Amino acid sequence: MCGIIGFCGYLNAKEELIKGLAELEYRGYDSAGIACFTDRGIEVVKSVGKVAGLENKLPPQMESGCGIGHTRWATHGGVSEVNAHPHRCGNVTLIHNGIIENYHELAKELEKTGRTPLSQTDTEVAVMLLDSLYKGDALEALRGTVERLEGAYAFCIMFADRKDEIYCIRKGSPLVCCSSEEGCAVASDMVALLRYSKEYFVLPEHQVAKVTKNAILVTDLEGMEVSPVMLSINWDMSAAQKNGFKHYMLKEIHEQPESIRRTLAPRMKKGEYILPDFSEDGIEDELFLNVGRIVITACGTAMHAGMMGRILLERLLRIPVSVEIASEFRYGEPILNEKSLVILVSQSGETADTLAALRLAKEKGAKTLSVVNVKGSSIARESDYVLYTHAGPEIAVASTKAYTAQLTAFYLLTFRFAYAVGKLTAKEVSGYMQGLNEVGELMEKMLEQKDRMKELSKRLTPAQDLFFIGRSLDYALSCEGSIKLKEITYIHSEAYAAGELKHGTLSLVTGGVPVIALATQSDVFSKMISNVKEVRARGAMVILITKEGNEAVVENGICDEHLVIPASHDVFAPFTAAVILQLLAYYTSSYRGLDVDQPRNLAKSVTVE
Ligand code: M6R
Repeated sequence: MCGIIGFCGYLNAKEELIKGLAELEYRGYDSAGIACFTDRGIEVVKSVGKVAGLENKLPPQMESGCGIGHTRWATHGGVSEVNAHPHRCGNVTLIHNGIIENYHELAKELEKTGRTPLSQTDTEVAVMLLDSLYKGDALEALRGTVERLEGAYAFCIMFADRKDEIYCIRKGSPLVCCSSEEGCAVASDMVALLRYSKEYFVLPEHQVAKVTKNAILVTDLEGMEVSPVMLSINWDMSAAQKNGFKHYMLKEIHEQPESIRRTLAPRMKKGEYILPDFSEDGIEDELFLNVGRIVITACGTAMHAGMMGRILLERLLRIPVSVEIASEFRYGEPILNEKSLVILVSQSGETADTLAALRLAKEKGAKTLSVVNVKGSSIARESDYVLYTHAGPEIAVASTKAYTAQLTAFYLLTFRFAYAVGKLTAKEVSGYMQGLNEVGELMEKMLEQKDRMKELSKRLTPAQDLFFIGRSLDYALSCEGSIKLKEITYIHSEAYAAGELKHGTLSLVTGGVPVIALATQSDVFSKMISNVKEVRARGAMVILITKEGNEAVVENGICDEHLVIPASHDVFAPFTAAVILQLLAYYTSSYRGLDVDQPRNLAKSVTVE
């Protein structure tokens, strides 16, 4: 949450910061601000609302080669200009991503030094503390400050008497750095640095980056130089742009077949049989032997991918698998030991609760494997094993291509695991892998029907409440369909295991209430059809999703609309059905005239708990 950027170099800093903030805006978009070194000292401009509003407010005479910028997702203190970053106290101006947990107690102490906060933010305490400790030695002041701070932070700091220098330090929150001929830059994520370089490093926690025009010097807090590990990304600027699509979400929905192929390619080793191969990921079969229990933990959409993973893993491995919401798991008392495998799922690799769940799992002696999209992110770095999804940058707040790439990773993992422990033969795995290989093509077929979903969304647009129902894999997908719809359309929706409806929720299904019923799984198909009849009998407006071949079974009048996904093994149906649910959410949001890519109150990467 919150996007931060710093630039120091040979270009117009003000313009560079605005470009970077626009790219980071998906991390938070309630207010924004920049601070630049100019001939008149450090100048700060802030504004409530989106980055475009800030841009209009910038004075033309703000000439600078060095500055910092912030786009905010409010945690402490409402949305106002005074709460927007950068914050300034005396000699120090800074931006912050994270939460300072002990800000209250520190504020009381600092008041005694004559420093009174102007804002309601936790951040202002950090700037006051730093200013109180700064006597001309930046490292000394930083040392003293971070010793006192509890919580998570990534800071970019400017000291008034250190022109054209930016100091950065982080704990918990992400910060990546790069240098190029045009200058040096730091940001919350690589999307904003790509115009300078594809090579970057993640600033190690508790180390300090001193950013100047020509170099980034990284030292520990004692001043000892350190060499951070260089990484490179395998996508370019166009991957992070809309490329002719009206919204990032629509573009990302269309990118799914490709993102799945990219996730599969390095793991598809063809011999006599096609078996998933994780040798490039450094995951040996040994990891799968002796696993007595699997726990999958994540948040939101990533957790829904985990729900799908649970069914697959348990079905094929016959090992107990549970799915835990990361924010519950981290404060629970999970029963884990060295025979437990904990799987963390995260697009960003920075979600605070998932990261904390990972740390807890390690503390309890479990083996940890993460399914992560962002290379070098905290979760990826701290896990024992990583299975990267190769979805490329996902900009829309609503996750789409990351979700289906996470599903792909779970399918690969399940098949390899089952093979390694002798639950599936090479031939059986190869059969499944062929099916998985065809998923991209099936999704393309589904995307060809997007006009149908567009038309159908008109029926959902006026809804106030909506239900998704399904059984087994379809129930797991219903949960994802529901979150997608509510986060971007603001229509209240719930996902129900179809058999559970009659135990209470059916009372809410009245005339005209839309029910999206997923019936793609043969083993529970007839049960699902009975559940559909139950809601239809109460007057629900039913959109039924079945697989090609089942048309005849769908009797006249059982539903208002019938959508058909291409024929495939049942196990792969969630991929194509997901496309339908994503498109319905997307078009409904568009018809309602909403901000599809940046829905209210939300942000892409949730780095606070
Ligand atoms: O980056 P992560 O995958 O860890 O994010 C987890 C959730 O915050 C995320 O999936 C969220 O639920 C999406 N906005 C849903 O579309």
